[in-house]
Parts: sequence; C-alpha cells; structure tokens
Amino acid sequence: MIDLHCHILPGLDDGAVDMAESVEMARIASEDGVRTVVATPHVFRDGPDSQVLSLIAGKRDELAEALAREKIDLEVRCGAEVYFSHEFLDEVRGKRNRLVVNGSAYLFVEFPSDHVYAGARDIFFNLLNEGLIPIIAHPERNTSFQKEPSLLFELVRMGALAQANSRSFLGGYGSRVRETAESFLRLNLVQLIASDGHSPRNRTPRLKAAVAEVAKIVGERAAVAMVTVNPEAVIKDGEPPYRPDPIDPSTSKKSLKISVPSIFKLKNRR
Ligand SMILES: [Fe+2]
Repeated sequence: MIDLHCHILPGLDDGAVDMAESVEMARIASEDGVRTVVATPHVFRDGPDSQVLSLIAGKRDELAEALAREKIDLEVRCGAEVYFSHEFLDEVRGKRNRLVVNGSAYLFVEFPSDHVYAGARDIFFNLLNEGLIPIIAHPERNTSFQKEPSLLFELVRMGALAQANSRSFLGGYGSRVRETAESFLRLNLVQLIASDGHSPRNRTPRLKAAVAEVAKIVGERAAVAMVTVNPEAVIKDGEPPYRPDPIDPSTSKKSLKISVPSIFKLKNRR
C-alpha cells in the first residue's frame, strides 16, 4: 500500500515531534503493509511559510537514513499539505516544485475545517488550467462539505481528486465524519484513502483496517485501488485507474444506496 498523506517528518508541524517518533510511525506503517509514504507537512497555515518548505527534502533524507539503519522497509517521498487561502494561487505559482507530490502535477489542498471559500471553484479552475491537479484533503472533516456535498461534487467533476482519512472510516473523528465519508464513497466523490497520520499513538499511520470498512461499501477492488494503484498513479504523475464518474448529490437521493460504483475503470490491480 501507499500512504499519500502523512505528517511523518520530525519537528516540522504538528506531526512527529522528533526522529524517534518518525521512526516509530514508519515502523507502524510498515507493519500495517505500507511500502511507500508521502511526507506531507502543513504549509501556509500561518501565512506564506517558506521555512518549512526549505526543510522538507533534507528531513526526508534524514528519515530515509534512519529507516535504513533501523532496517525498516519504507520508502519516503516528498509532498506537502497546502492550506487554502485567498493568496493561494500566488503562493503556489512561486513554489510549485516544492509543494506538489513527488514532483508530479498533484497538489494536496487543505481547506479550513469550517468553510470552503466562495472563490474555491475559480481558483481550482485556474490551477487545473495551469496543469496542477488539486487533491482535496479529508473533505469529510469539513463542515461545509458535510452540509453541501454538491460543493465537493463540483470540484471533483472539474477534475480535482479527493482523499479521505483512513481514521474517518473507523469512527476516529465521530459518527458525523464517518457517515459523511461513507456517503462520499457512495457518490464516487473519493478516489484516495490515506492516513493523515500525525503520531505513533493517537492519529497513527495505518490503512488496512479502513480498507476493510471501505470494502463493505464499494467492494474490495475499489477499496484496495484507493490505497494502491490510485496513489501509485499520483506519485508517478499518471491517471488514477479507479475514477468512477461522480454522482450529483442534489439530483440522486437513491444514489446513496448504491453499494458498488457502476463505472469501474480499474485494470491494473496488484
Ligand atoms: Fe494532514
């Protein structure tokens, strides 16, 4: 499995506090069946913060050396979780290469937890026009997306991807988030599952248990794709093979009862 979103680098944000925690998180991920993790520290939460950005590659190298010493079989790639703001486009344009996932066109976008900016659609349009593909981080935790799934539908229909947290499907953020995550799955609004791991204790970098829960809703092949071939395509700057057409929540109440996506493009399951 590939964990596309994890705060595993030491001392950069509210994730691992030091290298010992980073190594412990890596051990947990590896034992869970994760082979590659993308380090995605928070950036721009407190305004343009280039200091974290300049440290990501070096911290990744330090962690890779520590994992080799500890004989932990986990590959670490670079990325970031980019906080959405009114200045988003300018910030992204100037630092694009250090913000995207592993040098690809894919860019993790974190919305504030309680709203989605009115101009988000226009900014996403511009990002896509400039060859960047936004990945919306954990939309199930955002109260605006919870109340108005059609907001997410519009962004996904435009070409964005959405990543749900593994912990959301296990009730780790409460029943509202779990129900929202499940409904987004049924509406084909989620294509990726990642841990958003922050520590070796509470928000751990595990995926396997969530995949089992997701499989009950969309079937095993789709669930597995969301932690294997789809994140692999992101890392390799390709097209995720599992990408069923999103269902408009405002026009199809019945769609919430669909258990398996009708359009299934997965070809390369491994
Ligand atoms: Fe995160």
